Amino acid sequence: MSATGSGHVRIFDTTLRDGEQSPGFSMTMKGKLRMAKALSALNVDVIEAGFAAASPGDFESVKAIAEVVNGPRVCSLARVTKSDIDAAIEALEPASHKRAHVFIGTSPIHRKHKLNLRKGEILDKIEEGVAYAAKYFDDVEFSAEDALRTEKTFLAEAMRTALDAGAKTLNVPDTVGYTTPEEIYDTFRYLIDAVEPPEDVVFSSHCHNDLGLAVANSLAAVRAGVRQIECTINGIGERAGNAAMEEVVMALKTRRSYFGLDTQIRTEEFHNASRSLEEVTGEKVQRNKAIVGRNAFAHEAGIHQHGMLQNRETYEIMKPEDVGAPKSSLVLGKHSGKHALFARLEELGHEVDPDYTDAIFAAFKKLADERHEVTDEDLRTLVSGASNRV
Ligand code: KIV
Ligand code: ZN
Repeated sequence: MSATGSGHVRIFDTTLRDGEQSPGFSMTMKGKLRMAKALSALNVDVIEAGFAAASPGDFESVKAIAEVVNGPRVCSLARVTKSDIDAAIEALEPASHKRAHVFIGTSPIHRKHKLNLRKGEILDKIEEGVAYAAKYFDDVEFSAEDALRTEKTFLAEAMRTALDAGAKTLNVPDTVGYTTPEEIYDTFRYLIDAVEPPEDVVFSSHCHNDLGLAVANSLAAVRAGVRQIECTINGIGERAGNAAMEEVVMALKTRRSYFGLDTQIRTEEFHNASRSLEEVTGEKVQRNKAIVGRNAFAHEAGIHQHGMLQNRETYEIMKPEDVGAPKSSLVLGKHSGKHALFARLEELGHEVDPDYTDAIFAAFKKLADERHEVTDEDLRTLVSGASNRV
C-alpha cells in the first residue's frame, strides 16, 4: 500500500493505550479484554493493547490481549530502548499478528527539556531502536513524538532514518493537539515528497483534540496521503482525547464520493463498542456526541420532526442501523409540533377524535413547557384527561 496511493485506510485503535492512560478511563483486565473483543468485532487493523514496559499490569494486559485476539494485529508501545522493546517482544509473544510501536520525542521542546539530547543523538537512537525492533518484528511502527512542533526538515530526517532502519509505518503524532487541518495537510505533503516511502510503507496520523480539531486534522492527513489513522472509541485519550474512531470512519464512509477511500471497519458495531466502553470505564459520552451520543439520531424540533416523518433524509445523513444504534426517535418536547404528536399517538394505538385535537395539542404544549421530555405515559394520561375535559 502506498502512502500516497488510493485504497484502504488502516484503523489503528489506541483506546487501550492512549485512551486508558488518561484520568477517569483506567480499565481492569476484564474490561480491557471486553474492549479487545469489541474492537475485534469492529475489525480494526491494529489494537494497541498497552505499553508493556510501563508496569507489570500493563505487561500482563498486553499479553492477555495477545493471547485472545485473532484477526487484528496486537501492538505494544515502547520507547526506542532495548529494555522497552524486550518487554514488548515478551508480552506480544502469543499474538498471531503483532506490531512493535517505538517512539521518541523530536521537537525542540522535547529535545531540550525532556530528553536533553541533540538532533544527531536522537537520530542515532531512532536508528538503533527501530533496527533492534525490526530484528524481532516484521511490522515495526515508528512515532516521532510531538512531530507537529518539530522542524519539518528534521522530522523528515527522523522519518527517513526510521524507514532505513526497517520501520513499515511512519507515524506523525500531533501529541499536544496543536496543528490545524491546513497545516497538517502541508506537513504530510512535505514529508511524503521528502521521504518518498516505498509502496509497502505508510504514513500515519495520531491527532489529539486539545483544540477540538483531531478528527478534522485526521481527515486532512488522509487527503494528503496518509493511510493509517490512529484513534480511539468515543475519542478518549490524553487530556482532551484522541480522534474519535466512529467519527473519522463515518466521515470517510458518509463522504465516500469526496474522499474515495474505504476502511474495513464493520460500522454497525460502533454503538456496541461505545456503550461497552461507557460500562467498562463508568464514563458516559456527552448526549450530543457525534455518531454514538444519545441525541445522534433524535429529533425534537417540530419542523425537523415533520421532515423526518416525510423522509428521514431531510434531517439525517446516516442511518442509525449503519452504526448499530436503535432507530431514530422523535422526542416529544416543547419544540415539537402536531405532526409528531399525532404520529406518536397513532403509534401508541390512540385514535384521536378530530374534535379533541386542538385541546390535546394545547394540553401537550402546556405539559411540555413544564418538562424536558413528554413520555408515552404522559401522553396516555394527557389524552384521557383532555377527552374528559372537552
Ligand atoms: O501522542 C503521542 O505522541 C503518542 C505517541 C506515543 C504515539 O501517544
Ligand atoms: Zn497520543
